Amino acid sequence: MERTPIIAANWKMHKTIPEAVSFTREILNPLDFSGTDVVLCPPFPALWPVAQAASGTPLQVAAQDVYWADQGAFTGEVSPVMLRDAGCTYVVIGHSERRHLFGETDENVNRKVKAALRHGLTPIVCVGETLAERDAGETFKVVEKQLAAALLGLDGEEAAGLVVAYEPVWAIGTGRNAAPEDAQAVNHFVREFVRSRYRPEVAEQVRIQYGGSVTPENAELLLAQPDIDGALVGGASLKVESFRAIVYAAQRL
Ligand code: PGA
Repeated sequence: MERTPIIAANWKMHKTIPEAVSFTREILNPLDFSGTDVVLCPPFPALWPVAQAASGTPLQVAAQDVYWADQGAFTGEVSPVMLRDAGCTYVVIGHSERRHLFGETDENVNRKVKAALRHGLTPIVCVGETLAERDAGETFKVVEKQLAAALLGLDGEEAAGLVVAYEPVWAIGTGRNAAPEDAQAVNHFVREFVRSRYRPEVAEQVRIQYGGSVTPENAELLLAQPDIDGALVGGASLKVESFRAIVYAAQRL
């Protein structure tokens, strides 16, 4: 089955509203979307302005996190209803910075995934091992545990629509990407895990990104792997030229 590659720009805590809007205008001029889904993940304040700047184009907008309740006394949190309202169609859930810096748990990731799906947002669920876990030979065990928790209670249709991002923690922001074969091995493992829980079509449909020091230089080799269906790009997504080059790398395959 042909899966549409998905290239997402995770800006993390970067870009003011004017910077985010001018990036959006620049990347669209021109951007060839043929056969690729392209998603920008700005910080919360820039979501609506970026969605406005992208409106009428295929460019999609994602939040970097979400809370699971629709509304209420949850100071500082943002609900899936609000994200839809702000023009989002995707949301990143369980990024390693949320897990490791802000105490995000597997259980909360699952609540957020369900809340996002309930409101028609496509979750981009991040999983990945730390360096200590990799050195201890626990990569697959860690990824399996995170994935099993994230998918808990999801039916096949919901699982098929997900995007999973495999992001080894030691490769994020370090300039040290996973070797394409190693990333492929984990992405394949993710797909096989999905196959073990659902119908085979679900495993064929689910899109699995790689993230961690993706650049225009290494994107093509990573994206050429059979189970790598796209990239979640941090540092190299902050500049229009390098992000555009990664989108085009996906299209050359
Ligand atoms: P990086 O970040 O591309 O800067 O390594 C990726 C991410 O955290 O999603």
